[in-house]
Amino acid sequence: MAIYHPRHFLYGGDYNPDQWSAEVWRDDITRMKELGVNAATLPVFSWAHLQPAEDSYDFAWLDQVLNLLAENAIDAILATPTAAQPAWMSHKYPEMLPVTIYEQKRKHGGRTNFCPNSPVYRRFAANIAGKMAERYQKHPALLLWHISNEYGSYCYCDTCAAAFREWLKQRYGTLEELNRRWYTRFWGHTFYEWEEVEPPSYLNEMFPYGPERTATTQQPMAIDYNRFMSGSLLDCFRNEAAAIRKYTPEVPITTNLMGTFKPLDYFAWAKEMDIASWDSYPQPSDPPSKPAMRHDLTRGLKDGMPFLLMEQTPNQQNWQPVNALKRPGVMRLWSYQAIAHGSDSVLFFQWRQTLGGCEKYHAAMLPHANILNTRIGRELVQLGAELKKLDGKILGSRIEARIALVFDWSNWWAVEYSSGPTIYLKYLDIVGKYYQAIYDLNLPVDIIPSTADFSKYSLVIAPLLYMTPHKTAQKLEAFVAAGGTLLTTFFSGWVDENDLVYPDGYPGALRKLLGVWVEEQDALYPEITNEMIFSDAPEELRGVYTCKTICDVAHAEGAHILATFGKEYYAGQPCVTENTFGKGKALYVASDPEVNLLHKLLHYICRPLGIRPVLVTPPGVEATQRTNGKESFTFILNHNDFEVEIKLAGGPFIELLSGSQVSGTIKLPPKGVNILTG
Ligand code: GLA
Ligand code: ZN
Repeated sequence: MAIYHPRHFLYGGDYNPDQWSAEVWRDDITRMKELGVNAATLPVFSWAHLQPAEDSYDFAWLDQVLNLLAENAIDAILATPTAAQPAWMSHKYPEMLPVTIYEQKRKHGGRTNFCPNSPVYRRFAANIAGKMAERYQKHPALLLWHISNEYGSYCYCDTCAAAFREWLKQRYGTLEELNRRWYTRFWGHTFYEWEEVEPPSYLNEMFPYGPERTATTQQPMAIDYNRFMSGSLLDCFRNEAAAIRKYTPEVPITTNLMGTFKPLDYFAWAKEMDIASWDSYPQPSDPPSKPAMRHDLTRGLKDGMPFLLMEQTPNQQNWQPVNALKRPGVMRLWSYQAIAHGSDSVLFFQWRQTLGGCEKYHAAMLPHANILNTRIGRELVQLGAELKKLDGKILGSRIEARIALVFDWSNWWAVEYSSGPTIYLKYLDIVGKYYQAIYDLNLPVDIIPSTADFSKYSLVIAPLLYMTPHKTAQKLEAFVAAGGTLLTTFFSGWVDENDLVYPDGYPGALRKLLGVWVEEQDALYPEITNEMIFSDAPEELRGVYTCKTICDVAHAEGAHILATFGKEYYAGQPCVTENTFGKGKALYVASDPEVNLLHKLLHYICRPLGIRPVLVTPPGVEATQRTNGKESFTFILNHNDFEVEIKLAGGPFIELLSGSQVSGTIKLPPKGVNILTG
């Protein structure tokens, strides 16, 4: 695997020179220099221009642009253009067009509009990727490969159906085993021939349920189809990566991911990528913990290695229902937030604002008016200059965390395909709430897959780990037995990797470890709440907290009861427990509590473990730390609209952006950023 060694923070963005004349390219370079841009991602959507017909290619324009970039010391993040095939290709080979979950054959148009298992698509994609790699293998501008763009569209065509059957044969061996693992005796769904297995679509096992949810009558099949499709799209990535690595084995390869994007299991993807990168598009109204969690997730994909922020918008978007402006200071602040969580780049969509097409009102570094002396332009100039100043200092440094938060795609699919207990139970809401509690306290955290090595952490938090294969349960037991602390929730441990319920009483695979038995599970209508009463608990936890959505009606089987429910016929039954298991502890939260309780629980758990916050800050102020073994860099980010005071511990420190020495209490303006070292 090629290793990415950054020379500086990458600063720049998506560049679409084929929408412009050569005269404009020269202006682009001048403007890029003024802004301190050192990287451009191109040509993401230019397949039709690079290959105007099956046997004809036109690389001349790209040669010129890449030469211009190289002459001006601007690196190219060279993108294969395979996210949108040319119209001639779809028309000549309609078999590459996908079929939707409604079993409608798509026509040419849009983007990511191809069947991932189409041999023709794969052949053309490998061909153009190989041609580019052959042509530009020695090009001085080439820094990094960026394959395709935001993979993610599933297909349900006959080619995919046949490939799915092959995938299932590999996974289960025989139809008998598939029938067993899929529990097909339910509703008499037993298969007697492989050909009878079809992709789960809206014409067979799937149905829409409420505005946001796709439900299914056959969970194991639907979950397997997601695994298969995630893998099929990954095969597309692999297909191009192989064509490229033939020519440039030493040049790292990435593709732009999308954070918590449900259709793709990014932990599986990251194994094939040399460096993780992602596109961050929070809504202006989102809490800052939301992008923070996605940054941490992306960092977790490659085991804590720094990642690249491949895209964000300098100002407003065009594709939200309402596209608010980024308020003054927010673009700069959110850029530093990415770095604070492990990014070694600040890249945008896009460089020059396009004049036509549906993205013409999406902001760009260079707006339609071609003026840099604007509110956002000045912020971009400032940021470019600051990043240059930071060069060499923070790059490559890591975040050291003793807390791990488990995130699991198969589990996510299983929770939300589940028919019952409630459609209001959303995996991201629950994981996001635990993340927010960790974030609010400025506790460093790694987001890891359930297959990760837990042993290097002191505390593993696995909210809503509904799907807990035996192996995961055993790993968790070993982790706690050896002295680790586990914090998990209601609806965890219930099913195996095929969504089959463990028959020995909830929480199934985790019953022994948690020391509780869940006899029943109550689902609460959205307007209903219950109470968690901590009366006999340690002083710091005492009080009454509200909880909602789910209440597990549980009995302690050896676990110590920290809190009990306050209402309903199960008032007085345990809702938060703590079980000693070997040298460690396993805590269980039987409902979905207010975040305030999670803050207290985290304090209670972390103090004896010696896990401390990076810094204690007022609400709305975030602190993280990156370290390279010798030096550490503390980021303090004020997300508030007002000035705050922060008490520093120790010091004096050097504030890297201003170069000044600071100690004691510092003042941070609204949306202000400090980076302390020393
Ligand atoms: C995505 C894509 C870009 C562009 C932006 C607009 O992230 O990768 O090509 O469409 O959205 O926000
Ligand atoms: Zn298909």
